[in-house]
Amino acid sequence: MIVLGIETSCDETAAAVVDDDRQILADEVLSQVAEHSPYGGVVPEIAARAHLENIDVMVSRAMKKAGIGFAELDGVAVTGGPGLIGGVLVGVMCAKAISCVHRLPFLAVNHLEGHALSARLCSDVDFPYLLLLVSGGHCQLLIVEGVGRYRRLGTTLDDALGEAFDKTAKMLGLGFPGGPRVEKAALDGDESRFSLPRPMKGRKGCHFSFSGLKTAVRHAISALPPGRISERDAADICASFQAAAADVLADRSANAIAELRSSHPRAGTMVIAGGVAANRYLRERMEKLAENEGFRLIAPPRNLCTDNAAMIAWAGIERLELGLVDDLDFAPRPRWPLDANAPPAAFAGAKA
Ligand code: KG4
Ligand code: ZN
Repeated sequence: MIVLGIETSCDETAAAVVDDDRQILADEVLSQVAEHSPYGGVVPEIAARAHLENIDVMVSRAMKKAGIGFAELDGVAVTGGPGLIGGVLVGVMCAKAISCVHRLPFLAVNHLEGHALSARLCSDVDFPYLLLLVSGGHCQLLIVEGVGRYRRLGTTLDDALGEAFDKTAKMLGLGFPGGPRVEKAALDGDESRFSLPRPMKGRKGCHFSFSGLKTAVRHAISALPPGRISERDAADICASFQAAAADVLADRSANAIAELRSSHPRAGTMVIAGGVAANRYLRERMEKLAENEGFRLIAPPRNLCTDNAAMIAWAGIERLELGLVDDLDFAPRPRWPLDANAPPAAFAGAKA
C-alpha cells in the first residue's frame, strides 16, 4: 500500500510518499521561514498564498523522488485541520483534485493524529501508549488507545510550549522560529543563573500553563542592565527557561504515566511528538524520566517531529487499513480536537 501525504496547516508546504512497510519513499518539506521572518511570526495570509504557489511543485517533486506515478498510489492523505484555515484549504483542494482525477481514496487526517502516530512509522509501538504532544499550537498529554481513539489527560491552560519558546526568542531578539534558536543559545548557558517559575509543578493532574513562565522571562530581561542583551545573558536566560520547561514536562508526564498505569497496567511506552520534541535537551530529560519509571521512550527523528507530510501519509495508511476513508465533501477544520469528549480544562481560555 502506497499513500501520498500532503501537509499545509502552518508554514511548511510538504508532500511525502510512504508505504505500509514503513518506507518513506519521499519526504519533501518547503519551509516559509524567509517569508515570515520579517514579521517575527507566521502571517496566515502570506502562508496561504505561499502554499498555493508551491503545493503543485512539492507534490510533483515527491512523486518524482518516489519514482512512481499517481496510478500506483492507493490513496491520498491530507491534513484536514486543525491549523491556519487558508493553508489547510489549499492542501485539501489539491488532495481532492488528485483523488478525483485518479480515482483514489481520499483521507482527511487530523494534523495532531499525524504527530500522534508518527512513532509507529519509525518504531514498533503497540497501542496503548502515552503521548506528550508539544508543538507551536498544542501542549497535551494523551493516551493513544488506537487509530482515532485518544483520551486527553491534560492540556495547556494558556500558551503552548512552542509559543513560549518562540516568545522567549523574540524577547531576546534571537529571531524566528524561536525554538531551535533558544535550544542553540542555551547550549552555552548557565541554567541556574535565573530562577524561573515551574507553573503547575507539584499539582495534581496533567494540565500545563506557560504564560507565567513567559512573563518571568520578560521580567528577567527587563531587570538586566540597560543596553543590548549580551550573548551571555541570552544564553543564561535560554538555559534557565529550558530547564524550567523540562521540569514542568517531567512533572506533568510523571502524573500522566501514573494515570496510564491505572487504566492500562501493562502499558509501558511513552512517545513525544510535535515540533518542540525536536529539542535535544527536552528529549534527554524525558528519556531520564521514562527510565526512572521503567518506561520506554520513543522520540521520532527530529525531522519527523517538526511538521512534515510523511506523518500525514502514514496516518493515512493506518486509516486506510481500517477502511476509514473520507468523502470528497469533507470541510477543512480550523479546530479539531483529538479527543472531542475531553472535559474542558479548569480555567477559561484553555485550548482544545
Ligand atoms: O509541530 P510544529 O512543527 O508545528 C505545529 O504544529 O505547531 O511545531 C512548531 C513549534 C514552534 O513553536 C517551534 O519553535 C518549535 O516547535 N520547535 C522547537 C524546536 N524546533 C521547533 N522548540 C524547541 N526546540 C526545538 N529544537
Ligand atoms: Zn505540528
